Amino acid sequence: MNGNSYLNCSDDGFRHHLQEEHRQLNEELDELNACCLGQRNCDVQADWNKLRDRVHRLKDNIVHHFREEEEGSCLDEAVARRPTLAAEAREIEQEHPELLAELDGLISWLDQEPAMEATLQNAKQRLNSFADNLRRHEWREDALIRRGVGAFGVDD
Ligand SMILES: [Fe+2]
Ligand SMILES: [Fe+2]
Repeated sequence: MNGNSYLNCSDDGFRHHLQEEHRQLNEELDELNACCLGQRNCDVQADWNKLRDRVHRLKDNIVHHFREEEEGSCLDEAVARRPTLAAEAREIEQEHPELLAELDGLISWLDQEPAMEATLQNAKQRLNSFADNLRRHEWREDALIRRGVGAFGVDD
């Protein structure tokens, strides 16, 4: 975490920006899940390409999002106000490289596998598991910020 950032949680604009980013990531995950995977009469190659493009785009967005969070210090602000949250905040931030490594593994697998119905099903399972981990991470983050700096979102 970088407490000297020009972005911080005292700025409501940034907190809303963070909330909006979480909403958009969630939407992207839903779209990935809804992608035509293994349905009858679908073009497996076209679906595979669409899925791969979306996962690459998701990776770019997540890298950008994590960087903003690390520089934006929302977690720092929560810890500054409630120091007992320090260990949990560190744990949450350590999940960033773990999540990126999981996504990188999925991307190289998608780049190498042949486009077949069975691999599409497998891809869907792996994506769902990644989506669960990312959603759990964002949920923990929102909860920690709420506990540290007050209500986040509708209660602001
Ligand atoms: Fe995060
Ligand atoms: Fe986040």
